[in-house]
Amino acid sequence: MIQFLSIAFRNMKTVGTICPSSPMLSRELAESAITATSPKRVLEVGPGTGPVTKEILKSLRDGDVLDIVELSTEFCTDLEAKVIGPWKAKGRPGQVTLHNAAIQDVPLEAGSYDCVVCGLPFNNFEHELVETIMLRLLDLLRPGGELSYFCYLGAKAMKSTVLDGPGRDNLRAIARLEDELHLAHSGTRRVVLANFPPAEVRRLRKP
Ligand SMILES: C[S@@+](CC[C@H](N)C(=O)[O-])C[C@H]1O[C@@H](n2cnc3c(N)ncnc32)[C@H](O)[C@@H]1O
Repeated sequence: MIQFLSIAFRNMKTVGTICPSSPMLSRELAESAITATSPKRVLEVGPGTGPVTKEILKSLRDGDVLDIVELSTEFCTDLEAKVIGPWKAKGRPGQVTLHNAAIQDVPLEAGSYDCVVCGLPFNNFEHELVETIMLRLLDLLRPGGELSYFCYLGAKAMKSTVLDGPGRDNLRAIARLEDELHLAHSGTRRVVLANFPPAEVRRLRKP
């Protein structure tokens, strides 16, 4: 927790929160990865200290693949030392690879993942970057695969009160993009109150 806070305060724009996701939010985000039939290919983006990663790891079986992409070198070092390293040392099944990179830059195979689980703080980004990343994540899914991501309840409304005109326009553009993707990808939304702050998990299915 102290580690998370320390990295979060120095990287507020890319981390976007001061608390890791609660076990309830983590399980909800990871649900499609947990319930997918093996052999499965899962991509997690923005694991931070790994609360969602731990849920996905528990579901891995022989032949499964988990790719993890994290921008922060500090979070990668922590995740390798405390979550992935110990997990591999116990000889657990599945092939797990951690990429220290931005999801928009890392080479991954298009159309190959059954599930993409994304923890990025989209409301902190420019809407052009959100569009680039969202389209990339959908492109990485196989047809019928599912993308899950989250946002904090009321975050856009609260942020709007402290932003200037261009900042508010940016949030509106992100909301429009999310609505369009929701309609085009049989979107669903589920509220998770047991998190600080309460959050909503959004799911998109690739046609
Ligand atoms: C809100 S934190 C989520 C942490 C964790 N998933 C959780 O639920 O507690 C966002 C994470 O995304 C990472 N991140 C931000 N931009 C990224 C990018 N373009 N590519 C990959 N990771 C990114 C941050 O470094 C941070 O670890």
